[in-house]
Amino acid sequence: MPINRKASSFFSNGIPIIGGAIVALSLLWAFWPIITFTFTSPNPTNFRTGVHSGYSGSHGFNLTHDPPESTFYDDPDLTYTIDNPIKNWDEKRRQWLWLHPSFIPGLENRVLLVTGSQPNPCPNPIGDHLLLRFFKNKVDYCRIHGYDIFYNNVLLNPKMFTYWAKIPAVRAAMLAHPEAEWIWWVDSDAVFTDMDYKLPLHRYKNHNFVVHGWPELIYKKKSWTSLNAGVFLIRNSQWALDFMDVWSGMGPQTPEYEKWGQRLRETCKDKHFPESDDQTGLVYLLLKEKEKWGDKVYVEDGYYFEGYWMEIVGKLEDIMGKYKGVEKRERRLRRRHAEKVREGYNSVWEEYLDGVGYGREGWRRPFMTHFTGCQPCSGTHNELYTRQGCWDAMQKVLNFGDNQVLRSYGFVHPSLGDSGSVMPVPFDYPA
Ligand SMILES: *[C@@H]1O[C@H](CO)[C@@H](O)[C@H](O)[C@H]1NC(C)=O
Repeated sequence: MPINRKASSFFSNGIPIIGGAIVALSLLWAFWPIITFTFTSPNPTNFRTGVHSGYSGSHGFNLTHDPPESTFYDDPDLTYTIDNPIKNWDEKRRQWLWLHPSFIPGLENRVLLVTGSQPNPCPNPIGDHLLLRFFKNKVDYCRIHGYDIFYNNVLLNPKMFTYWAKIPAVRAAMLAHPEAEWIWWVDSDAVFTDMDYKLPLHRYKNHNFVVHGWPELIYKKKSWTSLNAGVFLIRNSQWALDFMDVWSGMGPQTPEYEKWGQRLRETCKDKHFPESDDQTGLVYLLLKEKEKWGDKVYVEDGYYFEGYWMEIVGKLEDIMGKYKGVEKRERRLRRRHAEKVREGYNSVWEEYLDGVGYGREGWRRPFMTHFTGCQPCSGTHNELYTRQGCWDAMQKVLNFGDNQVLRSYGFVHPSLGDSGSVMPVPFDYPA
């Protein structure tokens, strides 16, 4: 196995990697039965018969243990529906965790991605195909980074259609996943375009809600497009439940819906449609109830937490060329590796990407590309774009993300416009 010196010092902190590996392997073989015994089964019978004990070794979660002590799940007055506020959620969640201690280690970085689409087939003939590819992209990202994912395709509150549907879904996800610290709503038409970039959760440790936007445009221009509500991170907390109660108070399930439509248009003068919408509602809350919510809301403009596809799609080929240039120079990045250990290579990439921005001059991969206005499922689109323009851009962006995934499986699309074919990646590519 040809392992160069650089690789060995990077991956083993200077311990000669082959010797170290042999020692580790023989230790592993010597202790294998004990390790298996200890970690998979407290019961020797199970070990001999190979019956699964319900203990998921890779995460260390005890998936069968639900003690009889009562928790919020046993409270008949607590509902998953949004019409019934929940109190003391932080305490209730803490109590559940206390009774399920295997979920405590790593809690603060645990993320559940929630996404979804409408219950019916897409009117656009290729709509469902596109949704599948959009979903695959999210599954790939979550698998690489160890996040759970939930796809919802029913209206949990039948009156809360289109963009309002996410609020009941996010709320239900909080109750279903007390072990998740963050719920990450991602619209179905958003695509991960940097499969390696990991959410910088440390930045948000004092915040409960993260959204992509521009404080200038929110507070000075009062524009309804000063942020994008299609992707947000929300902390599983009482704060979040209260926030969503107020936010959804502007929705179509309330008698106030029409009044809110007017009020939002009066606040954000550039809003051109009469219906109350979640995004303008969010801007409204930041403007009018800043003291109440503002200090826990992080308006992220440091990277493409999500980005407008028109701004991104034309740059992808150039970005690919730049990344390939880095790989040509850096042998460590050309080393093949298992998908599971992929995150370990981020620090090598950072040596080359440090200081490379996203803007006009920058060539960092945008984290997420959002097809705002394209509507892949319905096929109706904003008049600014053509249908073909949207579809071509979606193929390109999806293939751009997919190439980064396929690379771990030894293949790559020959070009961004070619969704249907792949070619094998040669050893040590692109030396
Ligand atoms: C998981 O929980 C069950 C039920 O309390 C317990 O018997 C078992 O030992 C636990 N498994 C592990 C590996 O901790």
